[in-house]
Amino acid sequence: MQTRRGVVETPVFMPVGTQATVKGMLPETLRQIGAQIILGNTYHLYLRPGHELIKRLGGLHRFMNWDGPILTDSGGFQVFSLGELRRIDEEGAVFQSHLDGSRHQLTPEKSIAIQEALGADIIMAFDECIPYPADRAYVAASTARSGRWARRCRHARREGDGAALFGIVQGGMEPDLRRRSAEELMAIGFEGYALGGLSVGEETSLMYDVMEYSLPLLPEEAPRYVMGVGTPENLIEGIARGADMFDCVMPTRNARNGVLFTSRGKISIKQARYREDERPLDENCSCYVCRHYSRAYLRHLFQANEILSSVLNTHHNLHYYLHLMASARDAIEAGRFGEFRREFHARRQNVES
Ligand code: GUN
Ligand code: ZN
Repeated sequence: MQTRRGVVETPVFMPVGTQATVKGMLPETLRQIGAQIILGNTYHLYLRPGHELIKRLGGLHRFMNWDGPILTDSGGFQVFSLGELRRIDEEGAVFQSHLDGSRHQLTPEKSIAIQEALGADIIMAFDECIPYPADRAYVAASTARSGRWARRCRHARREGDGAALFGIVQGGMEPDLRRRSAEELMAIGFEGYALGGLSVGEETSLMYDVMEYSLPLLPEEAPRYVMGVGTPENLIEGIARGADMFDCVMPTRNARNGVLFTSRGKISIKQARYREDERPLDENCSCYVCRHYSRAYLRHLFQANEILSSVLNTHHNLHYYLHLMASARDAIEAGRFGEFRREFHARRQNVES
């Protein structure tokens, strides 16, 4: 994938940097472990410290010292997660800040203006992430409105040297509404296309079904991005169904909760069984943490609530996700992704069971 800040090899996982930082990670360390592009959030940066301030200080890249590509989400997910604190109409969403309760409006035009002020390289259309379950009439009405918002985003964005704009397919778990949404977006024309409204509490098999019938509807030559997904298994299964891009808080958030990904499955480092365990977290991992520290040390840091616990755990988990994607790319290039996928699943068991 070409961006104005260079090429991104796909399939790619984008670490989440909601507040102009990937929590616990120096940008140069992110780069070292293979991060190519990171995700920022319109909603959070608009409220604090403010997109105008970031723009005055030279843009988000300079502000946070990350010179690689940045994709920003439109706020269409964060605002709609606010529940009682928001109201939606044709114009956009009115919401109360989770920080100080102040009232704000986010519209398609405003979301694009904020993302452009931040200086993101890929910006997302403003949409509604439909909850699950939802009745079909609501899904149809919301999807149609997100389609009208997508058109407004397309008109609002600056032409020329600006960011790439991606449309977001909604339609809930309804095949015909997904198709209609995809067709509407393709008629408007975007540089890339995302699947939204996934990982919202549906069964995994249902998420895979949506990917399976929706991804082939989208242009082969455009990047296809599955938003907010997911577990390592979800990524491999998404790639098998045609996805090119993913983002998720799972590796970073789980790390801070002591939940660590290994080639054999997830482990919870706080367990007493690791108290005197001298082995590295994952014998198959080449990351800095696995080369230098024992499970016993990582457990100790977690139990003692030390800052380094989050730093080391995040480093390992992101390395795991980024290395998994690099391995998937190698397998695709070598024409052996099917085999790679089978081996990936075969290796995994619950290591703690
Ligand atoms: N992140 C995860 N799901 C979604 C979605 O449906 N819309 C947006 N904008 N972001 C998301
Ligand atoms: Zn490791």
